[in-house]
Amino acid sequence: MNKPFYLALDFRTADDVKTFISANDFYGVPVKVGMELFYREGRPMIDWLKQHDHPIFLDLKLHDIPTTVEKAMYNLGSLGVDIVNVHASGGSEMIIAAKRGLEAGSVNKVPKLIAVTILTSMDENVLHKELNIQQPLNVAVERLALLTKESGADGVVCSAHEVERIKKVCGNSFLTVTPGIRLSDSSQNDQKRVATPTLAKQKGADLLVIGRSVTQATNPQKNYQRVMEEWNHA
Ligand code: C5P
Repeated sequence: MNKPFYLALDFRTADDVKTFISANDFYGVPVKVGMELFYREGRPMIDWLKQHDHPIFLDLKLHDIPTTVEKAMYNLGSLGVDIVNVHASGGSEMIIAAKRGLEAGSVNKVPKLIAVTILTSMDENVLHKELNIQQPLNVAVERLALLTKESGADGVVCSAHEVERIKKVCGNSFLTVTPGIRLSDSSQNDQKRVATPTLAKQKGADLLVIGRSVTQATNPQKNYQRVMEEWNHA
């Protein structure tokens, strides 16, 4: 079985990625490719990762009018990745269009489509004061998760703290993917709603996204093993 954590390859260039993977013997582990890397290296980077047997979550967080998202998803469908995503706040019409485009553009299997609820770098203060959304954060996340499910997507990106409520409302098979994962001695960086791998597992998260706690560590392989041990023993 694949490991249930996607390693966030937040690097600037394909060379940086290849050096990192080779130096730490991360060949074949599930990886997440985000905007920074994809906007520079694009399809050849995805092809290289596929050639090296990495399951891929392509994290581009699409958010645009439904037609544009549908056509963009058509193109992403042809890349042969495992998971793609949109922002749930784009609304049901956009999520439905995303799925339509993805299904039409996929060659073999259709990637899972998930939607970002509220970024793990945001907290209630931002929600209330900047976005003028007056609901408690977990209620807003739950509402976006339900919208995502009703629009036919496979799951959401959320923090570990919201997983239990989402599973209650959307069902146990609805995927929850949780970034903001930190080992107990790692820096929080710009993330606000963080959790350890142990807590994420105890809350019922299906997949973890883990970036800087591993990629910026002095010994990345050691921290990756710590994530795995925590997950296996939680
Ligand atoms: O380094 P860190 O573990 O914080 O990396 C988290 C990764 O997950 C980043 O690549 C970020 O873009 C991504 N992400 C996130 N919050 C979301 C969706 C994706 O942090 N809601």
